[in-house]
Amino acid sequence: MSIWRTKSVELSMADTEDPEFKLKKNLSALDLTVFGIGVIIGAGIFTLTGRVAQAYAGPGVVFSFVIAAICCGLAALCYAEFASTVPVSGSAYTFSYATLGEMIAWIIGWDLILELMLGASVVAQGWSSYFETFLGEIGLGWPESLGYGDTFDLPAFLLVAILTVLVAFGIKESLRVNLVLVALKLFIVLFVIVAGIQFIDTDNYKPFVPASAPGTTGEGWLHTPLIQTVFGAPGVYGVAGILFAASLVFFAYIGFDVVATTAEEARNPQKDLPRGIIASLVICTILYVAVALVITGMVKYDDINPDAALATAFIDQGKDGYATLISAGAVAGLTTVVMTLMIGAVRVFFAMSRDGLMPTALAHVHPRTGTPVRITLAIGLVVALVASLTPIGKLEEMVNIGTLSAFALVSIAVPILRKNRPDLERSFRVPFSPFLPWLSAAICLFLMLNLTAETWLRFLVWMALGFAIYFGYGYRHSRVGQGAGEPAKDYSRRD
Ligand code: ALA
Repeated sequence: MSIWRTKSVELSMADTEDPEFKLKKNLSALDLTVFGIGVIIGAGIFTLTGRVAQAYAGPGVVFSFVIAAICCGLAALCYAEFASTVPVSGSAYTFSYATLGEMIAWIIGWDLILELMLGASVVAQGWSSYFETFLGEIGLGWPESLGYGDTFDLPAFLLVAILTVLVAFGIKESLRVNLVLVALKLFIVLFVIVAGIQFIDTDNYKPFVPASAPGTTGEGWLHTPLIQTVFGAPGVYGVAGILFAASLVFFAYIGFDVVATTAEEARNPQKDLPRGIIASLVICTILYVAVALVITGMVKYDDINPDAALATAFIDQGKDGYATLISAGAVAGLTTVVMTLMIGAVRVFFAMSRDGLMPTALAHVHPRTGTPVRITLAIGLVVALVASLTPIGKLEEMVNIGTLSAFALVSIAVPILRKNRPDLERSFRVPFSPFLPWLSAAICLFLMLNLTAETWLRFLVWMALGFAIYFGYGYRHSRVGQGAGEPAKDYSRRD
């Protein structure tokens, strides 16, 4: 018995054929790309861009987007290689179970749950604010007695409840809804770009990277990026500001990895997964850079409205109708993000329960819907409660740190799996391995260090909780540990 025991790739694949836990395989490369775009474009571009440009980076936020995209691009290559080698539900969790051993796999799974569940809650809160704005713009108010108070955000709760039911009814059905909403969202983003270009005043780009200014990104060291506290001289704007902004706008890219969590439901995962992951990331990067250029070109960075940058930029130009359209698009667009993040969370939780690291009974797949209904309902309840009960703007950094740490571990795992299992068929291979995977891990770590000390502390608490559950439950109930299937090979003792 060892915390380094691994679940072989063959055993992982065989599990997917077990009728009790079998998911339907009906997603194509296009479905996966739509799924990816559906989850990537969301609260990040609609709300974070303006806030971050105004407070930390100015027009230089364009560079922040590029840095975050490089980080995600490298991680995406690693994900693509893994997904094309081990096409099993659960994404990075499953990949690492085959390579780095059970405990690391648990840590990654636990990080992914943090990413996906909190991410869904954050975006549900963003949805709720846009929904309120939209109702206001079309002259309908939301009765205050029904929520939007300080204590309970009823619209966010209801949104998550409805989406939970959709997800529980089956992924294909949900994807159909997704397709319509994604098309609408792409239209709105393109609309912002095309309609905004004519209002760009190039004077607003001067200076493109505002000079570094003293001041902190918040009160005290707890709210200052760890790296700035360690090396002294905390400040905003300039290069440090761009880096801090990069660690924040990273949120806007989160979700492409969720495509990998659906591996088991892809018709031809070896080919379609890498295509879906990389295509959705490239499309989103181009759109983000364009939107960032348009917004910082339309409004001088220090005048940007940090709450609703996109809509306000058009109101300032006397285009209120455009603003209403953008809010409506945001409401539709954020809906798909919440749903897709929840689907991802269900998939990771499903894989962990199937392996016995969480109670196996939860992983039961309903015969009619072909989905793990119990897990879906449990996750829906948690997301709904967190979204409706926690204050807005508190959770994004937690989502980022959880995701970045999972990306770093996945990157490290690529060369390890190549060394341990050179025999496996890989239809996609990261070029320049092991250097690119190592570079990917290093960039993830660097962005993590640009997050605040408070976020690091919260993250450590989350990890401590994860370890308590693993050693209290998972370690003893693990199916691999109990010798299910073939005996696990212990790679930790390889020479
Ligand atoms: N990338 C997703 C968003 O920006 C999570 O909302």
